[in-house]
Amino acid sequence: MRKPPTPLIVLDRLGQRSLQSQIVIAVKELTGTKVLRAGEAVPSTRELARDLRVSRNTVVRAYERLTDEGYLEALPRRGFIVSKSLAQGNRSLARPRRSAIRFPDQESRGLSAPRPFRPCQPDVRLFPLAEWNRTRARIVRANGPSLLNYQSHLPLGLPALRKTVADYVRERRGVRCEWEQVAITSGSQQALFLLAQLLLRPRSRVLMEDPGYRGAHLAWDWARASVRPVEVDGEGINISASRARAAELIYVTPSRQFPTGSYLSLPRRLALIELAVRLKALIIEDDYDSEFRYSLPPLPSLQSLDSFGRVIYVGSMSKVLFPSLRIGYLVLPTSLVDGFAALRSASDDHGPVIEQATLAEFIDCGAFTRHLRRSRRVYEERLGCFLDGASRLGLPLEFPHTDGGMNVAGFLDHRADDRKVAAELLENGLDVPALSSYSLTKCRPGLVFGFTAFAPSAIRSSLEVAGRVLERLRLGKALSGGQDEPCRWASTGNEPVSS
Ligand SMILES: Cc1ncc(COP(=O)(O)O)c(C=O)c1O
Repeated sequence: MRKPPTPLIVLDRLGQRSLQSQIVIAVKELTGTKVLRAGEAVPSTRELARDLRVSRNTVVRAYERLTDEGYLEALPRRGFIVSKSLAQGNRSLARPRRSAIRFPDQESRGLSAPRPFRPCQPDVRLFPLAEWNRTRARIVRANGPSLLNYQSHLPLGLPALRKTVADYVRERRGVRCEWEQVAITSGSQQALFLLAQLLLRPRSRVLMEDPGYRGAHLAWDWARASVRPVEVDGEGINISASRARAAELIYVTPSRQFPTGSYLSLPRRLALIELAVRLKALIIEDDYDSEFRYSLPPLPSLQSLDSFGRVIYVGSMSKVLFPSLRIGYLVLPTSLVDGFAALRSASDDHGPVIEQATLAEFIDCGAFTRHLRRSRRVYEERLGCFLDGASRLGLPLEFPHTDGGMNVAGFLDHRADDRKVAAELLENGLDVPALSSYSLTKCRPGLVFGFTAFAPSAIRSSLEVAGRVLERLRLGKALSGGQDEPCRWASTGNEPVSS
């Protein structure tokens, strides 16, 4: 299998640090973590400047600094390599992680809001914050200071919330469970991370949709598992194409494949469960945004079809309420509950109790359902606004899955370089990740547009900007493969961390 085109340098064009310094820091990190090994050739200054879309001078200066400090060596007629002397020097550094992510310029960026069309972002302005705060104040008044103590005996969350979540997923998603199987986590990301720690060993095999959710991939990576990408088509993950003979874990987003938006068809759902039984594998069903299906009620969960106890159901409050709440949940097979509780306890003892109690009350009093209904109505209108605008402007994109969710994936001509397109859009203020940035192999090129967090006027004006950029690229033939291949260091600057 072809090695994935890893974007290794991410430039933060809004940050305070110069681009030159960012390149220097990134190369140092890459050598420190041995992603770049001593003696390995690095891209020429021309290539890197082209792919990072910076001036050649910027890269030349950065390489000069790196050579001066002993990180790079310039070889006559061969260009630059990682200094051979680093082979001895870095033994004390942490073990390399394949998917190390940098978080540049945290201080200068402060709190941020998504730019159009960042995927997977709810419109937090719709959230009834005053009502939430009143509920929270009521909870604190009613319980007094006891809410402030450690609650170490509750690593799986407050029973009141676990019961409420169990009712919710049983009723809305057909999930088969008792409340004791529900665990509350810090976002669904923590659920994935802890599941990886619980279920995987180094080199365990994980089958995963490709393109797929990078946050999940990070979780498997930190457990040192081996990820086997499986292609996705219009019916979701095509498990028969994988010819998998062994796997410990299968990760899927059946209600709406992330990021393409297809639904996993019923025959494939049944085949997937059958495969898991045959391989003695567990399936993680990530149901991150199934609440947002507009024309029809949400499909029942995959877990609802499973009578073998193979499916672990994972859900999130990030999209239906707000992401910084950091509350997710999972429904575990009974045999895993104690192990998960022990792991959660070792990780952070337990989650924030006041927020959990507030959420339980917020759901029980009906505020949750009111907010969900309103968001659904608003998002459906925005989806319509997005699709009308895209079709009016004649964007050279095909949108095959458009009946729900928070994002739409637009496929480009199969020869297009979607990362270049995404980089150009980013230069013009639009945050539209390339489909290939979610892929470990070679998926069809495309762009992922989130539409939920943006008012119709912003959607319309941003689409016009996108239309101009795409037209310019079409004339320059970048939409039909008429440009050079990017080098593997290249990044558009908006590769997804969690979305
Ligand atoms: C497919 C998928 N799963 C999980 C998550 C993570 O959600 P949370 O905020 O609950 O960690 C996201 C976030 O965008 C997502 O896109």
